[in-house]
Amino acid sequence: MQDVQWEASAAGSETKMEIDGSVCIVTGASSGIGAATARLLSRSGARVVLAARRTDRLEALAAELPASLAVTTDLTILGDIQRLVDTAIATFGRIDVLVNDAGQGLHVPIDEIDPEDLRAVFELNVVAPLVASQAVLPIMRAQGAGTIVNVSSATSLRVIPGIGGYAATKSALNMISQVSRLELEPQGISVSVVYPSVTATEFHDKLRAGHLATVAWSITPDPPELAARAIAFAISTGEAHVLVADPPRPIVPGPGLV
Ligand SMILES: NC(=O)c1ccc[n+]([C@@H]2O[C@H](COP(=O)([O-])OP(=O)(O)OC[C@H]3O[C@@H](n4cnc5c(N)ncnc54)[C@H](OP(=O)(O)O)[C@@H]3O)[C@@H](O)[C@H]2O)c1
Repeated sequence: MQDVQWEASAAGSETKMEIDGSVCIVTGASSGIGAATARLLSRSGARVVLAARRTDRLEALAAELPASLAVTTDLTILGDIQRLVDTAIATFGRIDVLVNDAGQGLHVPIDEIDPEDLRAVFELNVVAPLVASQAVLPIMRAQGAGTIVNVSSATSLRVIPGIGGYAATKSALNMISQVSRLELEPQGISVSVVYPSVTATEFHDKLRAGHLATVAWSITPDPPELAARAIAFAISTGEAHVLVADPPRPIVPGPGLV
């Protein structure tokens, strides 16, 4: 894919995987960053498997993208995740890429976090990407190759009052990603993390609880297409950590980085 390859070389990174011709599962494809990613990957020649709960949205997008497939999936139901992977294999015979994008915010101060809300966002933001990764691993191992991209958040690179519950889920996802990258590298499987900043999507209207901190609104939200470019960049280059920026930026994460 021309623009992703250009971005890879501009950032001094090698292109390690061709998106063209690949089969990519994208969770959270019914809106925002996931939908923008599905469109970009499809334009780059991938066959895209679209996963989320809203069937009407997925089917409308599938009608737009050639050789794509809509699979209604509630990622908090383990059986749905396995059915998603089985359907992708039954249709395309392989899975090259898993983008774990689906997620939800929990933006309240620590003393207001309802434990049920915290459990729910951990289920979607941490457990679901782990289970989805576990479900594709036997296939990727048999292929001798595969790429997993986990969509985290720049909130896990800073300490920001008011969003501790959400940032904790993304910090957990970062650690799982880093450990799995080391564990899976010898098997030809690459695991990357992408860090969007505030992005103009439905996310802010669909928080599990709370509202976006006023400080965050002082920055202009990124369009979801910018995060999609960073995800495509991570797939293409296999860089471990990619900050959503223009152009996408490989980073060494640490507190206070953004
Ligand atoms: N927007 C931001 O400012 C921002 C910043 C940093 C990181 N992020 C991260 O970026 C990712 C994408 O967020 P977004 O901004 O694109 O938000 P979004 O537009 O609200 O998209 C969230 C997606 O997750 C899906 N989803 C939610 N619950 C699900 C479930 N139980 N099963 C299956 N799918 C489910 C939604 O689809 P259905 O409702 O159809 O299921 C939707 O497609 C998230 O991981 C988020 O944490 C966002």
